[in-house]
Amino acid sequence: MKFIDLFAGIGGIKIGFENAGFRCVFSNDFDEYAKITYDLNFSEIFEADKQMVLGDIQKIPASKIPDFNILCGGFPCQPFSIAGYKQGFKDENGRGNLFFDIVRILKAKQPNAFLLENVKNLKTHDKGNTLRIILENLEKKLGYFVKVKVLNTMEYGNLPQNRERIYIVGFLDQKAYDKFSFPEKVKLTKTIHDCLEEKNVDEKYYYNDKPLYEVLKKEVKKRNTVYQWRRKYVRENKNNVCPTLTANMGMGGHNVPLVLSGIGIRKLTPRECANFQGFPKNYKLPDIADSHLYKQFGNSVSIPVIQRIAQNINNALTN
Ligand SMILES: C[S@@+](CC[C@H](N)C(=O)[O-])C[C@H]1O[C@@H](n2cnc3c(N)ncnc32)[C@H](O)[C@@H]1O
Repeated sequence: MKFIDLFAGIGGIKIGFENAGFRCVFSNDFDEYAKITYDLNFSEIFEADKQMVLGDIQKIPASKIPDFNILCGGFPCQPFSIAGYKQGFKDENGRGNLFFDIVRILKAKQPNAFLLENVKNLKTHDKGNTLRIILENLEKKLGYFVKVKVLNTMEYGNLPQNRERIYIVGFLDQKAYDKFSFPEKVKLTKTIHDCLEEKNVDEKYYYNDKPLYEVLKKEVKKRNTVYQWRRKYVRENKNNVCPTLTANMGMGGHNVPLVLSGIGIRKLTPRECANFQGFPKNYKLPDIADSHLYKQFGNSVSIPVIQRIAQNINNALTN
């Protein structure tokens, strides 16, 4: 079965679906740095058909997209996040309307199923009206049977990251819908040490000689904890897992999670962020600024959670 990967970023959803037996026939994003990472991992220069199509989805007609069975899309979450502008379907850049591009493509192509992913706050945004409008479009206008659930990576992906996301799965066929269920919880057996690189971490990630060190060392004392510097104070995560990796974690004021290693206090490296999202060890990181990589992994998905949902979609469709 074929799928398309909209708002593909660096292909986290793609890896999950391919591991569950699906084949990707089209992917799109408008971020040129995401394309660099994506193409490095999924295509060679001469394999034009495997490369991400770079461009604004709003300008891509459905007729330019090959036929497929499943539409996947972790559509941009800014307008829906409590941390964002709380502007519902439209933020100042017109983002949010992108949901209606998903509707447009579903309407034109009528795939068997879809998976949409977003921040948990989509559920409560604008007193539930945002999600209500989304579901009305998917169910009443397009005729899909839809299930919605919030899953936390640490409960459903056996990854030590506290990441709650909403997953919206729809089927055209009611029998497939009846057969589908979201995955069950799994025991968390991995610890943060399974995701940390204990050796050979470049010294640029350490705070040891930096002005902030004196402040940090008073608080960052445990080896089994991930901390965060929140502009003025250190936040300790009590549950021994990594806090939600976010797109803005590499930018001014919003710092990357911190850990104490044998050598000192340091940020997570981009590779460690990849590990906390369940990217495979052979996933390549391009030689671009760390700020781009932090954004890409913060924006991406927890691959084991996606893979488990994809497996259940596969079972539901291949009866
Ligand atoms: C939440 S991220 C999805 C990340 C992806 N699921 C992954 O695994 O990396 C949303 C993505 O939508 C892209 N995006 C936002 N607006 C877009 C547009 N108008 N057209 C195409 N892509 C867009 C962003 O560049 C970003 O990579």
